[in-house]
Amino acid sequence: MQVINSLTFKLSTVSLFSILLSLPIILLAHEENNANVVKKDINVDKNLPLYEVINSSYIAKIKPILEKKCFDCHSDATKFPWYYKIPGFKQMIDYDIKKAKKHIDMSKDFPFISHNTPLKDLESLRDVVIENDMPPLRYIIAHWDARLTKSEREAIVKWSEESMSKLREIRYQ
Ligand code: HEC
Repeated sequence: MQVINSLTFKLSTVSLFSILLSLPIILLAHEENNANVVKKDINVDKNLPLYEVINSSYIAKIKPILEKKCFDCHSDATKFPWYYKIPGFKQMIDYDIKKAKKHIDMSKDFPFISHNTPLKDLESLRDVVIENDMPPLRYIIAHWDARLTKSEREAIVKWSEESMSKLREIRYQ
């Protein structure tokens, strides 16, 4: 058992480092593909009363989940890992955070700060959760408890869809 444990540990450490080391290539390749996807910030009327309704259910049910599992990249409340100090890792992590926040910055609750409309953000939140795309694998490898549980995924999908239909009812973006 001891042997297996230490072997698993060694393997996971090795895979963590090899994945992190290959990140610049993955990230740079991604950057090129996505160059035109990230549009400039759009102007959204944040005072729509319905946003406040959606935001209060967000704060009660969804924010606690995202705070634990997504805020390291998608907010100003990043808890940096110990290897952030290692040259090379810092640049990769900074790049990841910059990229993540450009897509969706959750620092100021809902509506998120984003290059998209709140409705589109809810849609992509739902989609990444259904597809199990977030948090990225490279992050889960270093943060064993970061994967979303089944009930967390269900809660996020349910909340996104309910909020989307509320917005669609008033034909808002
Ligand atoms: C390690 C950093 C990191 C963590 C942690 C992370 N993300 Fe992301 N996220 C990214 C990056 C980088 C992008 C930009 C797209 C890409 O490169 O894949 C992104 C993009 C997104 C998008 C936009 C996708 C699109 O199509 O525009 C959503 C939604 C999202 N993340 C949700 C989440 C959720 C929900 C969590 C937590 C469960 C999470 N992310 C955790 C790095 C992260």
